[in-house]
Amino acid sequence: MTKRIRKAVFPVAGLGTRFLPATKSIPKEMLTVVDRPVLQHVVEEAREAGIEHFIFVTGRNKAVIEDHFDIAYELDDTLKKRGKLKELQALTADLPAAGAASFTRQQVPLGLGHAVWCAREIVGDEPFAVLLPDMVTMGWAQGRCLAQCVAAYEKHGGNIIAVEEVPPEETHQYGVVSIGKDFGHTFEITGMVEKPPHGTAPSNLIISGRYVLGPEIFPILEKREKGAGGEIQLTDGMKALARSQAFHGVRFDGKTYDCGAKLGFLAANVAFALADPELAHLLKTELKKILGTL
Ligand code: UTP
Repeated sequence: MTKRIRKAVFPVAGLGTRFLPATKSIPKEMLTVVDRPVLQHVVEEAREAGIEHFIFVTGRNKAVIEDHFDIAYELDDTLKKRGKLKELQALTADLPAAGAASFTRQQVPLGLGHAVWCAREIVGDEPFAVLLPDMVTMGWAQGRCLAQCVAAYEKHGGNIIAVEEVPPEETHQYGVVSIGKDFGHTFEITGMVEKPPHGTAPSNLIISGRYVLGPEIFPILEKREKGAGGEIQLTDGMKALARSQAFHGVRFDGKTYDCGAKLGFLAANVAFALADPELAHLLKTELKKILGTL
């Protein structure tokens, strides 16, 4: 019998250097995909998967994230007085309930593994989810990515990592897994490596930013061992945990956009706008004009 996954960690303390100068004063997680910040899309995905407590690991210049997930009394009041009820609904519908969001600081961005470790006191002794806010997912029939990971956790227990296929020449940019017993949608993970040098990756399945992990990861991350790029890597921590616990991969049935990179961010905006019935037709016309095909 598996425990319920109630808490999710959102590591949002990175510097976002790939989006400078935009990220000089705006956290990259607050850049918008259509009409809401990247981070809000990811929080909605977590809520859809049954998450009840949202833990944000933030850093300097990220206070605006806390404000975004709070009530804005003056704005609510103004919208009410102006009868803008649809806008008011959009503003308040997805707010975490009082006490259901926690914020802690990483202080120095020492790496993703360190960011996750910073949430240890709030997570406590229960399995939890991690969502990288850079990665925005669009699900098909089985829901978005975290919902599929939680379903896999309920089936296999242990630890779960969402993976995605990339062309072999791109694997050196990511964490890559080795495949053991294969069940199709899910499979046993027999190894992991962070940013393998060209031509050495064990597969073309990359770790794509959604995890369900046991609390036993925390004492491992506490050792602060540095890996690729001199950072404390989550992949290295998971690799150590895999010596004593099972890990399964989930081939996400849907589409992931890497909004931490310009191209992925732009593609996400186009894809989400095309999925919006109010925008799709108008955007298609604009795109045709830009491409000179109209
Ligand atoms: P990235 O390496 O993609 O984020 O980390 P970054 O460092 O902000 O981006 P660039 O490369 O400089 O443009 C993936 C996720 O992990 C978080 C980031 O905020 C991002 O959501 N992260 C990374 C932390 O919270 N702390 C860290 O020390 C490193």
